[in-house]
Amino acid sequence: MAPESSPTSSAITLHINGEKHPLSVDHRTTLLDALRERLDLTGTKKGCDQGQCGACTVLVDRRRVVSCLTLAVTAQDREVTTVEGLADGDDLHPVQQAFLDLDGYQCGYCTPGQICSAIALIEEHAAGWPSAVTPDVDPDATPAP
Ligand code: FES
Repeated sequence: MAPESSPTSSAITLHINGEKHPLSVDHRTTLLDALRERLDLTGTKKGCDQGQCGACTVLVDRRRVVSCLTLAVTAQDREVTTVEGLADGDDLHPVQQAFLDLDGYQCGYCTPGQICSAIALIEEHAAGWPSAVTPDVDPDATPAP
């Protein structure tokens, strides 16, 4: 049965890790809660739930976003990548493997957000996109991220 819309909810389709997920969401539902509570994708973690810690970071169209401050309805028809979608079968993403090899996960709770953020940072740097805090990003700078 197709999800229904109402004055306070919308039927949307989220594209997550290459799969389509039709669902009806209250307009106030965050992407984080849709992932964790509705779609059982619990790799993305809720830390502060107010945009400060980064534990909930996912990729939307390959850009990093804090999913606790992103409304699920705004992710409609965009490609969402969570930590569950980074590996290729049994082969971890190189950033995941680096975290594992170099003991970078500490307690592990916010590691999925750190990994998603690191992947996006590397891609943004390669594309020459400035960050909010470093407007003079030089894609040829050394050492490379
Ligand atoms: Fe802390 Fe989203 S849960 S930034």
